[in-house]
Amino acid sequence: MDAVRLTVEPEGEVVEVPRGTSLFHAARELGINITSDCGGHGECGKCFVRLRSEPNEPTAVDRRMLAKDRLDMGTRLSCRYLLQTDTVVYIPPGKRRQNRYA
Ligand code: FES
Repeated sequence: MDAVRLTVEPEGEVVEVPRGTSLFHAARELGINITSDCGGHGECGKCFVRLRSEPNEPTAVDRRMLAKDRLDMGTRLSCRYLLQTDTVVYIPPGKRRQNRYA
């Protein structure tokens, strides 16, 4: 498997997933359900998280839904963020919820 590692802070939990997996779905592998009203389809704008490692370029959906200052700070929509390299992300407790789309 061509894999990449996602580290989730503040716990420091790590999951290995196939390259190209969305951050949204990789977090689920750790039992972390990121806030969403659209189930990961890039429509609600609620699944944003803050990258601690160097982020990918924003997608067109990121640019449409997130303010420039947030993009500049490394915030991205987790459902549009495809993991290409080992990545570190901070997902605060307020961005998680219980199994609504699990
Ligand atoms: S989950 Fe709705 S935009 Fe990402």
